[in-house]
Amino acid sequence: MLLSIETSCDETAVSVICLDSFKAAARDTDTYLKSDLIASQTELHTAYGGVVPELAAREHIANLPSLIAEALQQAGISLEEISAVACTRGPGLKGCLLVGLSFAKALALARGLPLIPVHHIEGHILAGELLPEAERPKYPFLTLVVSGGHTMLVLVESFRSYRVIASTRDDAAGEAFDKGATLFGLPYPGGPALSRAAEGGDSSAFAFPVGVPGDPNSFSFSGLKTAVQRVVIGLGAEAKEEKTVQNLSASLQHSIIEALVKKSNQAVESFSPKSFLLTGGVAANKELRARLKREMEKRGVQFSVPPYRWCTDNAAMIGVVAASIWEKTEQDFKGWNPTPGKELGPSAPIAVGARAKWPIAELFADEC
Ligand code: KG4
Ligand code: ZN
Repeated sequence: MLLSIETSCDETAVSVICLDSFKAAARDTDTYLKSDLIASQTELHTAYGGVVPELAAREHIANLPSLIAEALQQAGISLEEISAVACTRGPGLKGCLLVGLSFAKALALARGLPLIPVHHIEGHILAGELLPEAERPKYPFLTLVVSGGHTMLVLVESFRSYRVIASTRDDAAGEAFDKGATLFGLPYPGGPALSRAAEGGDSSAFAFPVGVPGDPNSFSFSGLKTAVQRVVIGLGAEAKEEKTVQNLSASLQHSIIEALVKKSNQAVESFSPKSFLLTGGVAANKELRARLKREMEKRGVQFSVPPYRWCTDNAAMIGVVAASIWEKTEQDFKGWNPTPGKELGPSAPIAVGARAKWPIAELFADEC
C-alpha cells in the first residue's frame, strides 16, 4: 500500500494505491486506487483573488493529518499497512511543498518506510495512466501541461524520458485566463468564469494577438494581457456590459487556445507521436479539448485527456509516478535510490529537500 501526498499549491491531496493491483495487467483505478481525496482551498483564497502562499501552507498543515486519516479509513487500512510514501518534492510554492514533504519524511522516518520524492509535472504527465487501457497515451507521446503555474509541451519518448519542446517565457495559460477574468470583472477563479462567459460571446469581436513569438520553443502570454488591458481601458464603461464581457472573454479564450493549438500542431508534425495528452487545470476548458481533439483526429494521433479531477492537482497522479517506477523497475523501494550515488531510501529520507523551481530536464541531475 502506497500513500501519496500532494501539497505543491492550493490543494491538499492524499491517495492510497494498492501496488499489487496496480501491477496487474488489466489494472483499473476501481481496483488499485483505494482512496483519492482532495481538500480544495479555493474558498479561502477567493477573498484575495489569488493563492496566498503563506495561507495555503498553513491550510495544508491544518488539513493533512485529518485527510490522511480519512484516506486510510476509506482504503480500509491502518497506518501500519502502508509500505511506502510518495510525496511531491517540487516544483511549487516552497512553503506548501515543505509541509507535505516534512510530513512525508517524518512518517517515513518514524515507520522506517521508503520515501519516493515526485516531480509534480511528471505527476501531471503520468496522470494519463489513470485512464482505462485503451485511452492511455502510447509512447512516444506529446503532452500539453496547462495550468495556473505551467504551460509546456513535453515529448515523452519512453517511460521517464521527458523532452521539453516548448514552455512559457512568462505567464502560464491559466494565468492568462485568470488575469483576463480579473480585467473583465469576473469572479475568482477566473478560468472557469471566463470560459462560461465566452459561451455567449463572439470570438471574432476583438482581435487579440496570438501569443506565439518567433521562437518555436516558447509560449508567451504576457503581451496578450497588456493588449487586453488596453482594449478594456479604451472601452471605458462599455467594458462592463454583459455582452461586451462575453465578447471579450470569447476573444481572449480564442487567442489563448490558438497559441496552444498552433504549437501543439507544430510539435505533432515535427515529432509524429502516437498519442497526445492534454492535462493540467486548463484542460477543463471545453473549447480547448474540442479543438485539440479535432486537430489530433485529423492527424491520426490518439487524443487523451484525464477526467478533470486528475487534470487538476491531485495525489493519485503522484502515487502513479511512484507506483509506475516500482512496477517498471521491479524495485521494492527498499533503499530506493532515484539518483545514482544518493541514498533516498529509508536510511536517509531526511536528505530530500523541497525544490520550488525544478526543471523537469533536471529530474535525474539531482542535488538534495
Ligand atoms: O492545475 P490547476 O488546478 O492548478 C495549478 O495551477 O496547478 O489549474 C488551475 C488553472 C487556473 O488558472 C484556472 O483558471 C484554470 O486552470 N482553469 C481554466 C478552466 N478551469 C480551470 N482555464 C480555462 N478554462 C477553464 N474551464
Ligand atoms: Zn499542477
